[in-house]
Amino acid sequence: MILNEVLSLYPPGLVLSRMTNKETKLRELILPAGVQLLLPARFSEGVLKATKGQLAYFPFGWGPWICLGQNFAMLEAKMAPAMILLHFSLELSPLYAHAPHTIIALQPQYGAQLILRKL
Ligand code: HEM
Repeated sequence: MILNEVLSLYPPGLVLSRMTNKETKLRELILPAGVQLLLPARFSEGVLKATKGQLAYFPFGWGPWICLGQNFAMLEAKMAPAMILLHFSLELSPLYAHAPHTIIALQPQYGAQLILRKL
């Protein structure tokens, strides 16, 4: 649940792009072949508004090009903290500044400083 929440609020892949390979009808729009579509700011009006019966939660993409590493990434995201938490407790450092930043993928601009204490 936590990982899903994080991936919906801070999806590492912020922008997905697609190109029409033939004339395509998208609701009231008729797009000729070769139009590039960008799908950014997926939660600009909030998660609830974005997901109203629509496919709005897609941190790993969707359709034929969906991320091949999705299951691996989710498993790793659970296993790594689980192994750390066997030996350490951790809390967020007061030095942490919340500044999501995009350099290809979304990431913390000044790092994510944690204080670890050995159990
Ligand atoms: C949190 C981690 C990850 C996120 C958020 C993520 C997200 C994405 C997204 C958004 C796409 C584009 C899907 C599209 O164009 O519709 C993608 C594609 C892809 N990802 Fe990931 N990914 C992650 C980890 C991984 C890992 C660990 C691997 C490999 C072990 C991987 C392998 C791939 C591959 C091969 C594609 C291209 C699939 C295709 O074009 O057919 N990803 N990923």
